[in-house]
Amino acid sequence: MKEDHSQPQWDEWANYYDLMDGDRQPMIRFYQSLVSDVTVSILELGSGTGLVASALADVGAPGARVAGIDESPAMVERARARDARCEWIVGDMKEPPIRGKFELIVCCYNSLQHMLSEQDLLTLFSNVRQLLAPHGVFAFDLYEPDWGHLSNKQSNRLVRSAVDDSGMRLEIREDTDFDPVSRIYSLDWRLVEEGGREILAELQYRYRQYTSTDIDRLLGNAGLQVLERYGDFKRVPPSASTKKQVVVAGWL
Ligand SMILES: C[S@@+](CC[C@H](N)C(=O)[O-])C[C@H]1O[C@@H](n2cnc3c(N)ncnc32)[C@H](O)[C@@H]1O
Repeated sequence: MKEDHSQPQWDEWANYYDLMDGDRQPMIRFYQSLVSDVTVSILELGSGTGLVASALADVGAPGARVAGIDESPAMVERARARDARCEWIVGDMKEPPIRGKFELIVCCYNSLQHMLSEQDLLTLFSNVRQLLAPHGVFAFDLYEPDWGHLSNKQSNRLVRSAVDDSGMRLEIREDTDFDPVSRIYSLDWRLVEEGGREILAELQYRYRQYTSTDIDRLLGNAGLQVLERYGDFKRVPPSASTKKQVVVAGWL
């Protein structure tokens, strides 16, 4: 599988991200439920094109400090064009280049899985602990590992399709691979016109798999603890059939 780390992985995908990334409304409603009109400080890690942070700014206190950090300059550029109320910062969310204390810190849409080692995730959690106000909450979601699904290697699988402004039908096709030793799932995405061969954009990314037990342990090592855990954004309890970990954490 080809990998090119000469530029942030998501740069080439930025123009297509919002069109191709499906319905994020249930996720947005969940994170908005953690905000009220007296919330004055919100930080999103891995903020992408800014859709979520901007939606959180809509329901926070008027004039609230809302910031988003992402390593992809192209994603951050789109976020800046979306919402001038927020601070948009290019940087590594593992060591967020920002000061202050935040009442709500979020890292959504599986973005924590970009931390490819336990050490990196622990560094991120420890820095979140520093940035979190004493009674603040840190909320995130990620996949609950489904080892059978992960091991089922895919080739040219249709992920989803959408129609762009010009009426062109676009498809995401993927190849996947899973290494059970490193627990890293590699996804190689290609954006193509339906039925066509020309590749309009490519994205290679890797998601490390963390069980809920791993998450509890690493949060604890960073001085954080789980306050609430769900199996989806509608707050169903986690079970053998739920595919997600949706977590609200706070200071230990
Ligand atoms: C799946 S997208 C999610 C974007 C946004 N949170 C959303 O829900 O639409 C993952 C984002 O994480 C960013 N990212 C990956 N690793 C990062 C890192 N180490 N530091 C900052 N951003 C990172 C990518 O550039 C990408 O924009």
